[in-house]
Amino acid sequence: MVFVAFEGLDGSGKTSLINALGVELKAQGLGFIRTREPGGTPLAEEIRTLLLRTEGEAPLPRTEFLLYAAGRAQHVETVIRPALKEKKWVLCDRFTASSVAFQNGGRGLDLQKINWLNEYATDGLRPHVTVLLDLTVEESRKRRDGRNVKNSSEDDRFEREASEFHERVRQSYLRQASENKDGWIVLDSSQSPETLATALLQKLKEKKWLVS
Ligand code: TYD
Repeated sequence: MVFVAFEGLDGSGKTSLINALGVELKAQGLGFIRTREPGGTPLAEEIRTLLLRTEGEAPLPRTEFLLYAAGRAQHVETVIRPALKEKKWVLCDRFTASSVAFQNGGRGLDLQKINWLNEYATDGLRPHVTVLLDLTVEESRKRRDGRNVKNSSEDDRFEREASEFHERVRQSYLRQASENKDGWIVLDSSQSPETLATALLQKLKEKKWLVS
């Protein structure tokens, strides 16, 4: 079993890539779950609503991070660890690296404290690999606007942040990946979904987690 976290700016194509990996795992007869953060359990999904809503009292940055961490603790113990114990792969849309990117990179909270609380929330559980779908802020915004028109949806609290915020988030992701080359796979998200899926499967085969 392998725990894979998917990260990137909005619209970077995480969902399609998770779908593609799911299809391959199924074809190879490998059990897996797909899950997401914030969320993944009933309680954590309620916390997600609090975090992303645009009405009501907005959480301060520290409050925001504590809410992410609270949901993460619940998610790790009730969903992720049990799945890994059952030898299933875990495909998780966002995880601890999002807190580093958004709460440290974006909001400017202290990095050491974020690392500490991430560690506490996960009780030391880390993904085997984090897949970064790297995308420019401009392209991310374009894709998001397209999605909003298509789904008649509106920007959530993070999507309303300025381009500079998202640029800091992107740079934080790239920094995290460059500081831990073994634990990260970086893909250029401007490529087609098919190319991205092929590239990811290739990397997972190189790591001997998947057979050819
Ligand atoms: P979501 O709709 O899941 O974003 P996307 O569709 O792009 O995956 O919203 C999750 C938002 O929460 C996203 O903007 C990133 C943010 N976030 C954090 O700020 N910190 C975190 O620890 C996590 C997991 C997410």
